[in-house]
Amino acid sequence: MSGDQNRPHVVLVSEVTVDGKLTVTRGASSKLLMQFMSHEAEVLLHRIRAESDAIMVGSNTIRIDNSFLTVRHVQGKNPIRVIPSSRADISPDANVLSADSPTIIAVSEQADPVKIAVLKEKGAHIEVVGKDKVDLTLLMSRLASSYGVSRLMIEGGSTLNGQMFSLGLIDEIVLIHLPFIAGGSDTPSLVGGLATRSVDDLIRLELTKNYLAGENLITEYKVRRV
Ligand SMILES: NC(=O)c1ccc[n+]([C@@H]2O[C@H](COP(=O)([O-])OP(=O)(O)OC[C@H]3O[C@@H](n4cnc5c(N)ncnc54)[C@H](OP(=O)(O)O)[C@@H]3O)[C@@H](O)[C@H]2O)c1
Repeated sequence: MSGDQNRPHVVLVSEVTVDGKLTVTRGASSKLLMQFMSHEAEVLLHRIRAESDAIMVGSNTIRIDNSFLTVRHVQGKNPIRVIPSSRADISPDANVLSADSPTIIAVSEQADPVKIAVLKEKGAHIEVVGKDKVDLTLLMSRLASSYGVSRLMIEGGSTLNGQMFSLGLIDEIVLIHLPFIAGGSDTPSLVGGLATRSVDDLIRLELTKNYLAGENLITEYKVRRV
């Protein structure tokens, strides 16, 4: 649990290129990059998944990557999967709805009841949090109070990371660095959409660890509360 007892402790874990990109080009799956991770880095990623009560990614990541979000490279329990999608735009055939562990689709009041019914039919738990858009702060407290989530891992993408940072909901960051430069002005980077105007707006981090996992540099940071 975070210092704020109403929400889980949140750890953002991401594979990033040297220029901070999450994928090769806009619309491309991050699996294209992940194939270059060392086995040790894959083990690290999956160990963090196994140590988390829940894992959350944005709906666009599900549409593009069609991720399972399960634990595969280590022994351990699959975390609860959490996908915010304001209008319940998740395919009923998405891998994230597999029977491996519970999946929560967080929607707003604008979500189509027919889409909700289809997702429920596929076994998803639906949480209505927010009027027009998923209210991530409310979602965090719902995860803590209704599902007992005290440790949440988030694995992107750029838009969700940006919203979580702007709401002050991220406590730690673990970056798996990949030795590439992707470039591309519209290629998603680690954090999208923050309205930084001056140094006063910068989110301040404290480097807590740096080490190698196989050939990949790993850096870990604590988010400073000012
Ligand atoms: N390298 C890595 O570690 C890594 C990890 C994950 C993803 N990726 C890559 O990142 C890219 C996708 O990133 P992305 O920025 O396009 O999308 P994203 O962050 O995965 O998903 C964003 C979507 O989440 C939904 N959402 C619902 N409520 C939200 C809220 N309150 N705040 C923010 N989002 C909310 C919205 O869609 P609705 O309209 O459905 O509400 C929004 O468009 C892909 O290329 C993927 O491969 C890389």
